[in-house]
Amino acid sequence: MIVGIPKEIKDKEKRVAIIPAGVELLVESGHKVILEKGAGEGSGISDDDFREEGAYIVDSGQAVYHEADMILKVKEPLPEEYPYLREEQIIFTYLHLAAVPELARVLAEKKVVAMAYETVQLEDGSLPLLDPMSKVAGRMAVQIGAHHLEHIQGGSGVLLGGVPGVPPSRVVIIGGGVVGTNAARIANGIGAQVTILDINPSRLRELDDLFYGQVTTCFSNKYNLKKIVPQADLLIGAVLHTGGKAPILVTEEMVKGMKPGSVIVDVAIDQGGIVETINRCTSLSNPVYVENEVIHYAVPNIPGSVPRTSTFALTNTTLPFVSLVANYGYREAARVKKCLAMGINIVKGKVVCAPVAEAVGLPYTPLKEVLDL
Ligand SMILES: NC(=O)c1ccc[n+]([C@@H]2O[C@H](COP(=O)([O-])OP(=O)(O)OC[C@H]3O[C@@H](n4cnc5c(N)ncnc54)[C@H](O)[C@@H]3O)[C@@H](O)[C@H]2O)c1
Repeated sequence: MIVGIPKEIKDKEKRVAIIPAGVELLVESGHKVILEKGAGEGSGISDDDFREEGAYIVDSGQAVYHEADMILKVKEPLPEEYPYLREEQIIFTYLHLAAVPELARVLAEKKVVAMAYETVQLEDGSLPLLDPMSKVAGRMAVQIGAHHLEHIQGGSGVLLGGVPGVPPSRVVIIGGGVVGTNAARIANGIGAQVTILDINPSRLRELDDLFYGQVTTCFSNKYNLKKIVPQADLLIGAVLHTGGKAPILVTEEMVKGMKPGSVIVDVAIDQGGIVETINRCTSLSNPVYVENEVIHYAVPNIPGSVPRTSTFALTNTTLPFVSLVANYGYREAARVKKCLAMGINIVKGKVVCAPVAEAVGLPYTPLKEVLDL
């Protein structure tokens, strides 16, 4: 198979979907790997590093799309890339289609095989290819929040951990999964007062055990959110309904109740976000806006700001799955690995992932009716 890796073109996105070790493995297995010139530079990987393992370097993203049977990416294709996509070409990347219905339509019309990292799901419900970037984003969320709370950034001027004689600030995290847990770990570590809300009682029990009671856990419902959100100096959105659009849990009324200069980091923005006053993505170049005197941060590619760490963390986990698809083809790989079948969102013009179909307003067709699995 020809595996192609274009340079990411989303604003300030410097991650790349393969590392030299991945090229080595794919080439050893008999595949051809082509990369766009400079694709790895932002992650500290030169074209020569890739060439040494047998990759071919081409001048443009268009050339990569033209030649490759499978496109490996980090973020979803942008409109400039839509014309390059073609029937039966596999695109394996973060798609987060619930937040970009027009891309879902393009992928269906062009009959692309659209495989999303974020819906590859193991039998225990975990999401192995979302996990590494959720760890990065969760840890970054606290760092980002602390930065924007600084007075010079327009924030309320509080230090998250406080100092002796001055109480710490309050960090409220909605969603206690991978993002929420990693955010709690950092916020707790710097001495903030942390509350995590989740709807899953067993997850709340696990979090209570994990943090030895140093973090307050709370059941997530409208009543509790109304009481707790206004107390937050830093509010972190970390909810996920796999594949589906994120539910709006934080209303404008709750935001109005927050102190001026408080910060919201809605990590769940890649699935549409959980905050009523966040109705658009921001970018790494222009990450915040102020509404109701509260700073709103809604960047859908937070790990892109630490590409060196993120690229290696991401590709360490994607490579075994990429290798399976390259070795067996997407049909056979999906037949032998149910988790990869769950990664397929769109194939042969049909949306085969129910939550995505519902979120983007297209009909759902079960995968087994489209592919003879
Ligand atoms: N912006 C970024 O750069 C970035 C990077 C990585 C991940 N993400 C996103 O962050 C979000 C969270 O990812 P994750 O890996 O932590 O998911 P996860 O599945 O590990 O955790 C989600 C948690 O949300 C909880 N939840 C569901 N409904 C809830 C509700 N009503 N109230 C409170 N909690 C609720 C679930 O019980 C679960 O514990 C996803 O949308 C993911 O795509 C964004």
